[in-house]
Amino acid sequence: MKQRSTFKIKMPHLLVAAIDFGTTYSGCAFSFYDEFKKDPTKSFVKNWIDPNSSMMYCKTSTCILFNEEKEFNEFGFAAEAKYLDLMLENDHHNWYFFRRFKMVLYEIQSEDQEILIEDEHGNTMPALTVFSESLRYLKQSLLDYVNDSVIISMDDIKWVITVPAIWSDPAKTFMRRAAIQAEIDSDMLTIALEPEAAALFVKYLPVERKVDGNDKEVLQAFAPGSKYIVVDAGGGTVDITAHEVLEDGHVKELIKSTGGSWGGTKVDEEYMDFLKRLIGDDTTKYIDENLPSLLFEARRDFENAKHIIKPNSDKKINVRFPAKIAEIYTTLHPDKDLRAKDIVLTKNKKQMAVLFKGDKLRLA
Ligand SMILES: Nc1ncnc2c1ncn2[C@@H]1O[C@H](COP(=O)(O)OP(=O)(O)OP(=O)(O)O)[C@@H](O)[C@H]1O
Ligand SMILES: [Mg+2]
Repeated sequence: MKQRSTFKIKMPHLLVAAIDFGTTYSGCAFSFYDEFKKDPTKSFVKNWIDPNSSMMYCKTSTCILFNEEKEFNEFGFAAEAKYLDLMLENDHHNWYFFRRFKMVLYEIQSEDQEILIEDEHGNTMPALTVFSESLRYLKQSLLDYVNDSVIISMDDIKWVITVPAIWSDPAKTFMRRAAIQAEIDSDMLTIALEPEAAALFVKYLPVERKVDGNDKEVLQAFAPGSKYIVVDAGGGTVDITAHEVLEDGHVKELIKSTGGSWGGTKVDEEYMDFLKRLIGDDTTKYIDENLPSLLFEARRDFENAKHIIKPNSDKKINVRFPAKIAEIYTTLHPDKDLRAKDIVLTKNKKQMAVLFKGDKLRLA
């Protein structure tokens, strides 16, 4: 059985708890101030198990599920798994499943704007509820994780929530409102910029090649005077910062953070559009109305395929293709064979070569 320390931390801000609320994945971590002073990179990152693959990840998917009464039910991989189950039982119609909703704040114009978010079926809920319930879940997960090692009260914790640098002030304020609604004390909360947090972390990493006294190449943290650029390519946004390390070890921002809404979910949208062109409007409509879990799975299969792409990977990628989709296509078009298709015209009028291999679709 796990041994739990029994000391009570009394001094303020002895622990910093951080939530990375991402477009596709979210995670949380904490670090003790005492340990930070000795090793600033030492932190405890919560891990999550995806019930679909049984794999462990340092983030969970940013999905939230509410029941018919609009009460919080699940978050993350667990929400995805539960919603897929509901779809397979055809019981999902009155539930509310939100995914990739962070980007709705990208275009928010005013702090008081009441925003509604549409779920998978076009049913809406207030954005503030969706964000605050997500933060409440992440906060509680982190507290449970912290309480595995120490007993600590909320008053002793400094909270950090990261947001994209390119967000407007109203969007950042909205995030603070959501955190307050999730019962995070505003006085104990810092809203930090994602690429700045990354840039500060990079400063401590041994990333610069140097030749030591014995003519050996060693890796060191950036020395004063070093300038570096951090590009955080996420699911929603790509954020770019440039910093210089100063003599006293602090870092100076060289240019204002920049970037755009060019994240990985844009690639997902293109893939789903391509898939719909491959199977045609009638098959898409039939699946949407009768077996929506198939498109849900197809989206997840594409996400899994992306994860195995490495910088030196072959330019072709293999994506699992649910066999049932080809079956439905044949039922609707008895004279055609979907698997015989070799070219699909994308919305940008590009010819995309496709090849069916077993249960995989090979794209080039
Ligand atoms: N090997 C890969 N090639 C291309 N895209 C990838 C690869 N691995 C993961 N991705 C994509 O990266 C995105 C996830 O990145 P990350 O976890 O940094 O985003 P996020 O923090 O959720 O988003 P953001 O910070 O923009 O809000 C997903 O869209 C995922 O599909
Ligand atoms: Mg991110």
